[in-house]
Amino acid sequence: MILEDVSASAAVRLRRSLLSVPAGNPRALEKVPSLDCDGVILDLEDSVFPEKKMEARENLRRFFGQPPLAGRDIVIRINALSSEFIEADIELVAELKPDAVLLPKIGEAADVLTAAAMLDRAGTPEELPVWAMIETASGVMNAPSIAGASRRLSCFVVGLNDLRKETGVLMQPGRTYLVPWLMQVVLAARANGLDVLDSVFNDFRDAEGFDAECAQGRAMGFDGKMLIHPTQIEPANRHFGPQPEAIEEAQAIIAAFALPEAQNLNVINMNGRMVERLHLLEAQKLVHKAQSIAERKKRS
Ligand code: COA
Ligand code: MG
Repeated sequence: MILEDVSASAAVRLRRSLLSVPAGNPRALEKVPSLDCDGVILDLEDSVFPEKKMEARENLRRFFGQPPLAGRDIVIRINALSSEFIEADIELVAELKPDAVLLPKIGEAADVLTAAAMLDRAGTPEELPVWAMIETASGVMNAPSIAGASRRLSCFVVGLNDLRKETGVLMQPGRTYLVPWLMQVVLAARANGLDVLDSVFNDFRDAEGFDAECAQGRAMGFDGKMLIHPTQIEPANRHFGPQPEAIEEAQAIIAAFALPEAQNLNVINMNGRMVERLHLLEAQKLVHKAQSIAERKKRS
């Protein structure tokens, strides 16, 4: 395998499967080290009853006291900026130093700036990434300006449960009337170099429905999906990960551009198909992704 240039394409992160784990559920938290997801979103928000928020923060302190999980994103989803829980949540983030903090119900760029200012005041490092849930009507409408609001911002996560509740759009196969909004979020994210994750799928026993939604999310350009149940990890990894044929093809593209006669060419003929140098970069990223996955498999 020819991979000289791959390191130049640098940060290839795995974001196929991000499992939401209620911080109020110690049994679910205990399971995390055994799960093959690319990351976990430790949830202090919607899944935790208001009277249980303090207990949930204590659970997270215990969780972070354990040995770190190499190669996985550990994200904390805090409560809404307008909620009574926000100060204590931000302090917890400063104390535990997760890989990122996920902000729920972001409606406009100013919300991200407010959160960033709170994180600054709490003494979190400037480079702590912020992720934003796009799950309100104003969040979708303002996605383009939110995406460019702060250098801390690194990922959008779509939340359709809240969005459907607010807008009245029905759940239908193929998410017919939601697709334009989903695509607006993907586009806004990409225009600003952000990763973007598709929404949760509630019916965790419906494997067929989940498969279809992963395939659709993948086709729409999402990097991966937020998950609610361990059974969703394997199919999400499969759909959002590089497919074997795509890896083979990527390796062929890398090999073709490595030939001496291709050194000064930006475009080559590969078996009757035009391949450009931009495809080479894509191919390198894909192979690098496949390598990261294989390395993690070896470690586990
Ligand atoms: N993270 C870690 N472990 C989980 C899990 C999760 N999100 N969801 C389920 N599990 C575990 C259960 O604890 C159970 O473990 P056990 O066999 O050791 O008891 C096992 O997986 C099987 O779970 P199951 O019995 O099928 O479901 P449940 O009734 O325990 O939980 C939900 C169902 C929906 C309540 C649970 O999956 C959940 O809380 N999901 C996340 C919800 C959330 O975060 N919402 C906010 C974002 S939308
Ligand atoms: Mg919500």
